[in-house]
Amino acid sequence: MAISIKQICCIGAGYVGGPTMSVISLKCPDIKINIVDVNKERIDAWNSEDLSKLPVYEPGLKEIISKTRNKNLFFSTKIKESIESADMIFISVNTPTKTKGVGAGKASDLKWVEKSARDVARFAKGHTIVVEKSTLPVRTAEVIQKILHSAEKDSLKDNIRFNVLSNPEFLSEGSAINDLLNPDRVLIGGDNKEAMISLSKIYKNWVSEDKILLTNIWSSELAKLTSNAFLAQRISSINSISSICEVTGADIREVSRSIGKDSRIGSKFLDSGPGFGGSCFKKDILNLVYLAEYFGLKEVAKFWESVVEINIWHQRRISEIVVKKLFGTIANKKIVILGFAFKANTNDTRESAAITICKNLIDEGAYLVIHDPKVKANQIEKDLQIKQILEEQNKKETGLKNQIGKWQFSKSLNIFNDAHAILVLTEWEEYKYIDWHKAVQKMVKPSWVFDSRSIINAKEVQEAGINLWRLGDGSQNNEISNF
Ligand code: NAD
Ligand code: UGA
Repeated sequence: MAISIKQICCIGAGYVGGPTMSVISLKCPDIKINIVDVNKERIDAWNSEDLSKLPVYEPGLKEIISKTRNKNLFFSTKIKESIESADMIFISVNTPTKTKGVGAGKASDLKWVEKSARDVARFAKGHTIVVEKSTLPVRTAEVIQKILHSAEKDSLKDNIRFNVLSNPEFLSEGSAINDLLNPDRVLIGGDNKEAMISLSKIYKNWVSEDKILLTNIWSSELAKLTSNAFLAQRISSINSISSICEVTGADIREVSRSIGKDSRIGSKFLDSGPGFGGSCFKKDILNLVYLAEYFGLKEVAKFWESVVEINIWHQRRISEIVVKKLFGTIANKKIVILGFAFKANTNDTRESAAITICKNLIDEGAYLVIHDPKVKANQIEKDLQIKQILEEQNKKETGLKNQIGKWQFSKSLNIFNDAHAILVLTEWEEYKYIDWHKAVQKMVKPSWVFDSRSIINAKEVQEAGINLWRLGDGSQNNEISNF
């Protein structure tokens, strides 16, 4: 018989664990949920009275937290107690690409998953359903099962029994709450029908039955990697076409609009941008590449690897265009960077295109003033691995006009003074409303706006007398020659 779930433990209070469990707590008030993490600072932030200090920024998240926290949703570092009392345990820990050893640079590092499985094996009591929420290489469930089964055989433990399920998460950051409330599908992979029913019962509280797909565990694991690989592939495809637009006089927005009308292609994920970022696309594709190489499928590995290679090339291409347009040198020139998060509506900067592009520009000697409404200066400092030079210190040491290869963060958008160029890297809504007639008065002439997200009011920028470069817009290219 399917067990009815009264207590859940989620191991990992990150971008997935936090929002996912918040939504379950909202929709299943009778289930008690303990989210645990080894990172005390993160747990303290989740428990912060001031909801603007939650460690994850997602529209709609703080409203849910304010309703369920300390009612049926609890954040703590009490891993042992929370595992002991749970009927169902979600493993939602990080699975980054390995940096050392076998498979370095491609395979996922499973040390956090393994540690979680060992904790579950050690502390769980009775019948426990273990759910893989993290994105994992195909056949990871086997590893988890082996660890748990060795605990089942331990004669010192009474009646302990486990079922392992795969339940990959498809939420996107920035729209996580909406994605969780209205998912396209919920995927549950497993080989134990009753355990699968127990998990699907939770989702049925708000997701219609036809959207809950039950499958075998390996297909579920592979479907998650494939889903991300397909999405990333669309972005690399459209970004590669944007470079063709720029040299042929075509416009990527028109090309996207036109191909998106084909119902077989569809209109989503066709926005050309500075290159995909986020913690998962690159790592999940590289994981797929590793899998293909491992099974001797060289051509398959090469195909998927090229999706990542185009993305890297594309980011470099954008930095080079900025340098080229500013007369081949940006040394000692102030460039304003609008947006550092890997996409709008999140404070996450993992693999953000802004990191590579800003590093490239700093290497060329530019002085960057970086604005982002949600990312903090210390995060940018970690990502760039270059210390921020504070204005006061700056004035004292070098004078504002002599700041080669440095950067500074600004909370305000009042930063266009003496800027040679403005580069838009994240599509934050507020950048649409910049008054370009005012901005140009403060900038060095000729002034430039580089828009890698096509969100700036192009007409107004041009009317203000600012040179505009938009990604994939060949209509502004005066150097197109017939071929
Ligand atoms: P994250 O780094 O934000 O959070 C993971 C958390 O797990 C961290 O807070 C870490 O301290 C904690 N942790 C690690 N080992 C632990 C242990 N042994 N015990 C307790 N806590 C531990 O990662 P994330 O973005 O939430 O991603 C988690 C997983 O979900 C990854 O596999 C990722 O691929 C997948 N995923 C992420 C997203 C996304 O949008 N971020 C979407 C879908 C799937
Ligand atoms: C992605 C997937 O969309 C989720 O389904 C998946 O659950 C998640 O990865 C994961 O496994 O982590 P996420 O990375 O949060 O979600 O955000 P996306 O909206 O997919 O954007 C990824 C990157 O692609 C961003 O840098 C974004 O700016 C870029 N992008 C997206 C484009 O450049 N153009 C587009 O049309 C769409």
